[in-house]
Amino acid sequence: MSDCIILGVESSCDDTSAAVVKNGRQVLSNIIASQIPIHQKYGGVVPEIASRSHVEALLPVIDEAIKQAGVQKNDLSAVAVTYGPGLVGALLVGLSGAKSLAWSLDLPLIGVNHLEGHVYGNFLSHPDLEPPFLALVVSGGHTSLLAVPDYETFQTIGQTRDDAAGEAFDKVARVMGLPYPGGPEIDRLSKAGDKTAIAFPRALADAPYDFSFSGLKSAVINYLHHDRQTGHVTPPADVAASFQAAVVDVLVEKTLRAAADHGFETVVMAGGVSANSALREALAAETKRRGLRFLYPSPLYCTDNAAMIACRGHYLFQQGKTSDWRLNAVPGLALGKL
Ligand code: KG4
Ligand code: ZN
Repeated sequence: MSDCIILGVESSCDDTSAAVVKNGRQVLSNIIASQIPIHQKYGGVVPEIASRSHVEALLPVIDEAIKQAGVQKNDLSAVAVTYGPGLVGALLVGLSGAKSLAWSLDLPLIGVNHLEGHVYGNFLSHPDLEPPFLALVVSGGHTSLLAVPDYETFQTIGQTRDDAAGEAFDKVARVMGLPYPGGPEIDRLSKAGDKTAIAFPRALADAPYDFSFSGLKSAVINYLHHDRQTGHVTPPADVAASFQAAVVDVLVEKTLRAAADHGFETVVMAGGVSANSALREALAAETKRRGLRFLYPSPLYCTDNAAMIACRGHYLFQQGKTSDWRLNAVPGLALGKL
């Protein structure tokens, strides 16, 4: 059987990425042009600027991915591209580029759900991983617990009712005067802090698998305002560590409950927040105690990248699930939808 070589394209938020993946799990190249320095001065992603930056970066990033992979364009089997969820203008840039390339090379086009891509990032770091497993997807836009019984099913068990975990990290960091994106900053600062210094709320104790982070975010912001008004100065590291501990506690508790209730023996984590060191440590310790296998992607495949999109694209392609030329961006695309 000849090799299946997929070009993946990702542009849903603030990273322009292209990757070449062979036979589903062998990454030949994974080029990422990050826009973080561009958005940093605004304290968050500015959608219009993101779209324009994708336009500038896309073709050079695709060329570089093909070059680094050491393949020719006519070696490609198909082009996989993120079509949602994400920023509509940003998605459209990657989608148009991927469509033009696939059309000109007479290749099949495969639309990929960004969140399914995040889950599939685990296959790249753990070649022996197979479903079934429970996935905790924690990113800037999503926080979900998913049952993944096979390669094609993503069943939502629980999700956030308001802010995503990454969004809470970024907003709290912003109020603390830390640069964007705030997640890695809070992670770093927390290492020097006392996580028991402030008892921030752990929301939705009664809902078994759902999350809520907006109350926690407000509690931290109110705490900081109160500090400022009274001239009291709580060490920022203590605020960061206490906030982070509140997020980690609920993520860990509900993930473990879902794994036990649904009988999963393997738990995987995905999305940008899965890079968080406290979350990794806590989930590693608690799953070990219960005899569960626990996996997360290597750092490069945690945050947005096209290799995970190509990997997901590969499995869709094997199932014959290609897209037609009318494929459009779907900013609010849900999980498990085609
Ligand atoms: O998956 P991702 O790259 O983009 C989305 O699809 O949203 O996730 C980005 C999010 C941001 O909110 C960022 O602050 C957060 O992931 N993040 C972290 C860490 N690294 C990235 N949050 C907490 N700790 C980290 N180490
Ligand atoms: Zn993402």
